[in-house]
Amino acid sequence: MTCKIQGFDVGGSSVKAGLVDVDGGQLIGELLSAPTPRPATPAGVVEVIAGLSRRLPQGSGRVGVAFPSVVKKGIVRTAANIDASWIGADGAELVADALGQPAEFLNDADAAGIAEMRWGAGRGELGTVVMLTFGTGIGTALFIEGQLLPNTELGHMELRGMDAEKWASAHVKTALNLDWTDWIARVNEYLDRMHALLWPDMFILGGAVSERFADFAPLLRSEARICSARFAGQAGVIGAALAAAEADSR
Ligand code: BGC
Repeated sequence: MTCKIQGFDVGGSSVKAGLVDVDGGQLIGELLSAPTPRPATPAGVVEVIAGLSRRLPQGSGRVGVAFPSVVKKGIVRTAANIDASWIGADGAELVADALGQPAEFLNDADAAGIAEMRWGAGRGELGTVVMLTFGTGIGTALFIEGQLLPNTELGHMELRGMDAEKWASAHVKTALNLDWTDWIARVNEYLDRMHALLWPDMFILGGAVSERFADFAPLLRSEARICSARFAGQAGVIGAALAAAEADSR
């Protein structure tokens, strides 16, 4: 029997949701989305998740939620791109109470990385792999021999005297109206810096902007291999569901 799990991905501008076939690593049916409430408080975000959950077919076991923060044992520890009232909140418990189902709550880039390593661009990759999600911020997930080192926050690595994500996120590209050449010059500088520190074998570039990978790929430069994420904007939803299935099987 196919195991189907509801996955959610909370982003700076929208909350996405889908029912995921975790044995096939794909969405069943459409990807739903709703605007992230402003302010994005725990009560507001959980209400949006519950609303999206009702619009989806029921899954089995726990649900998975990808969240744009450091998350330790379900508890939100940072809030760079979400309301500060989340800090200290037990995300897993809040969602479980609202949905009446247990929840796995994890960092959004870690979720996206899990999707790519299990079913996408990183499948079967050993060595050191860095997954990057370009969106409102920059999320990172670090895999060594296929094992995730959770909660790496390399989007906050210092670059040009500021957080790297304030210099090279997809949001910065839009806000400053940068063309591909100018934006990728920033991304290349960031990849270069990361390469000097981690010496990864592969970078996987994700986030919705990776749907345009073919347009900017010729401009990318790194000593490491660079691949486009397979799941682009869906990776967080799929990875959250995969993480929930893994937690259920523990
Ligand atoms: C947060 C990370 C998150 C990334 C992408 C950053 O600002 O600190 O936890 O993964 O944005 O959403």
